[in-house]
Amino acid sequence: MKYAVISDIHGNLPALKLVLEDAKRQGTQAYLFAGDYCISAPWANEVATLLRSLPDARFIRGNDENHLDVPDGDDGQFEVSRWCSRSISADNKAWLDALPEELSFQCEGVTIRMAHSSEAYVGKAIHKHFRTSAVPARYSEAPVTRQHLLEDFRSTMGQDSDFLTAMAKLDKGVYIFGHNHVQCFGCYDGRWLVNPGSCGLPLDCGDFGAVYTLLTIANGQVTVEERRIPYDVEALIAQVKTTSQYQAARIWSEVIFSEWRTCREKVYYVLWNAEHYAESIGDSRRPFAKDTWQAAYDLWLQNGQQAHPELFVR
Ligand SMILES: [Fe+2]
Repeated sequence: MKYAVISDIHGNLPALKLVLEDAKRQGTQAYLFAGDYCISAPWANEVATLLRSLPDARFIRGNDENHLDVPDGDDGQFEVSRWCSRSISADNKAWLDALPEELSFQCEGVTIRMAHSSEAYVGKAIHKHFRTSAVPARYSEAPVTRQHLLEDFRSTMGQDSDFLTAMAKLDKGVYIFGHNHVQCFGCYDGRWLVNPGSCGLPLDCGDFGAVYTLLTIANGQVTVEERRIPYDVEALIAQVKTTSQYQAARIWSEVIFSEWRTCREKVYYVLWNAEHYAESIGDSRRPFAKDTWQAAYDLWLQNGQQAHPELFVR
């Protein structure tokens, strides 16, 4: 059985279509989706509709599905979540709400488990080294190659005693997760970890593309193949600029553009910068008022690259 393992689409319909076309060409027989279908790119509703039409697909929910329940308000901070929430049909929202947090099933005697975050399996052991906000500092000199990242992941985790202790307690089988948008995989004494990266918003400091992973189970044997389909980031950005999300949530859209161009996290730092700025002017309102949010973002545009050059390597 050949599965396409796909995570963190984040509303990026063009990337999802590229992945599904490639998966079909590769002879995929079934699909496994590990959460975060919405927020960031403006096609979450179309993504949900397409996903629901797929045969032989299993789904779990991610943390961003929870952000669709943002309350009404006039703040700047939640503009993109609010826009996304408005853009999703009641039917698709009900489908997203009903998705399980985790699932497990058998394939040819191999147990496959799915959870959005690796924390479900190994606590914070992977998060400590490879959380999205920490990865750019690991590869601050240049874009990282797939081979280097995989070697770094395996040697770093292979020396982490919390990780090794947690892994030893797991049953043998395949453990799928996403969340940090860093594609990687490894096998530890019959326990496979498979992170397919982010289909629509890769943040693993490498090449931009539509990202997913093929997982094959044949005669009880597991094989994994990482896939990354290149496409035009500037054409994608130009497309987003024509949507009402760009009008309603311009700052968030620009932050996502910057993440697409560099494949490096920005959200954590933009929020931290806004928090710091609001404190400096004695503004305690949260979520951030529109004026504060705009002024903080202007400051980020002026100073962000100098303060955090590792976030802008491309
Ligand atoms: Fe995500």
